Amino acid sequence: MKALDGVRILDFTHVQSGPTCTQLLAWFGADVIKVERPGVGDATRKQLVDVPGADSLYFTMLNHNKRSIELNSKHGTGKEVLTRLIEECDVMVENFAPGALDRMGFTWERIQEINPRMILASIKGFGPGQYEDCKVYENVAQCAGGSASTTGFPDGPPLVTGAQIGDSGTGLHLALGIVTALYQRERSGRGQKVSAAMQDGVLNLCRVKLRDQQRLAAGPLSEYSQYGEGIPFGEATPRAGNDSGGGQPGRILKCKGWETDPDAYTYFITQAAVWKSICDLIGRPEWKDAEGYATPPERLDKLNEIFAVIEEWTMTLTKFEVMEVCNPLNIPVGPILSMKELMEDEGLRATGTIVDVDHPERGKYVSVGCPVKLSDSPAEVVRSPLLGEHTEEILADVLGYAGEELSRVMESGAVGEPTRTAAE
Ligand code: COA
Repeated sequence: MKALDGVRILDFTHVQSGPTCTQLLAWFGADVIKVERPGVGDATRKQLVDVPGADSLYFTMLNHNKRSIELNSKHGTGKEVLTRLIEECDVMVENFAPGALDRMGFTWERIQEINPRMILASIKGFGPGQYEDCKVYENVAQCAGGSASTTGFPDGPPLVTGAQIGDSGTGLHLALGIVTALYQRERSGRGQKVSAAMQDGVLNLCRVKLRDQQRLAAGPLSEYSQYGEGIPFGEATPRAGNDSGGGQPGRILKCKGWETDPDAYTYFITQAAVWKSICDLIGRPEWKDAEGYATPPERLDKLNEIFAVIEEWTMTLTKFEVMEVCNPLNIPVGPILSMKELMEDEGLRATGTIVDVDHPERGKYVSVGCPVKLSDSPAEVVRSPLLGEHTEEILADVLGYAGEELSRVMESGAVGEPTRTAAE
């Protein structure tokens, strides 16, 4: 038994933000029915193609454990089938451009009429207000949500991060909203609308930067490197390079091999509690009690000097050797791991966070499995569906179409070509 067994999701999502949400729900056991435009499907199927003719990794890695039905929701018979799907499903998830669902004729009022228990979950770029009609992608959300203005070095331009906090981050937020609404429905008997805006999701993840914005009113932010360097603060939270956000000075430092390996670096935190161990390690025992070095406030204007000396030491070891030496001393360090190293990490494979998946068109590939582990509801990763692979199965088994009725729908032009199967 899986946690969300019996929950049926009408998955009208595409690209990244919505599909990450429904993929999580599928891993938790929900039956996720992905509705795709006949003959076209989710645009990502054919984006960043690496194996000609096969679904891209962009698509396969975001759509595991789902079933696919090809359905033209603007066609008369397509609308009939969509109405039946709304009757049979518990949750409808969508991340169309603003107004697209209404233009199809499926307003929130209409959906409630069809199924009052339906939970309609939507991702949009912005919440209600002056930007609500804008189309939004990952980097737009990172910029509009406060991430870009606070990422990068103080003397450089704003930067976007590699973590997809706008798309996958908002998908996570929406998944939480959906299971919460399902829980409330247990008591109220009613569905509700769940909305997650990408700007809001990014801002939520940048909460500590809004904290710092307000702390600025009380004076300069002493844990930022620029404070010790004597660089004045402006009106807004500045970019802080690789400073650690928690108040304990930290930096990314070179390790052995940095000249040729772009990821031969470690994150090193000079936590106050282990200062004496750090001094011994880097060959500066005199700093333990020296005036100007002994306490954290005294050290703030010397961080460049201190980290330069620590780096002389880290450069004599690999990033993994730094970890081996520092961990027993409780000195917090973190190797900068490349995607290649993560993909080959035995520990992540053992927990199912990195998995091998077999696909009929593209063969074996590596993916990220479910990052949240439930002891009573293990997630097994199943390959993504081919376009329309389950059209007939869903029409028959979920919606009960049979005989002439099934033929009528299959031949209506609303569901694309007869169902493709993996063998084809
Ligand atoms: N049958 C018939 N029509 C369908 C369909 C189906 N199964 N699925 C989609 N369509 C139609 C939509 O109704 C829409 O038609 P309309 O413009 O006449 O209303 C059209 O396809 C395009 O949909 P849209 O969502 O506008 O796609 P897009 O490629 O133009 O825009 C986004 C893509 C991501 C920018 C946009 O969907 C968006 O802003 N989404 C919300 C924010 C978001 O999730 N962004 C991150 C994506 S990772």
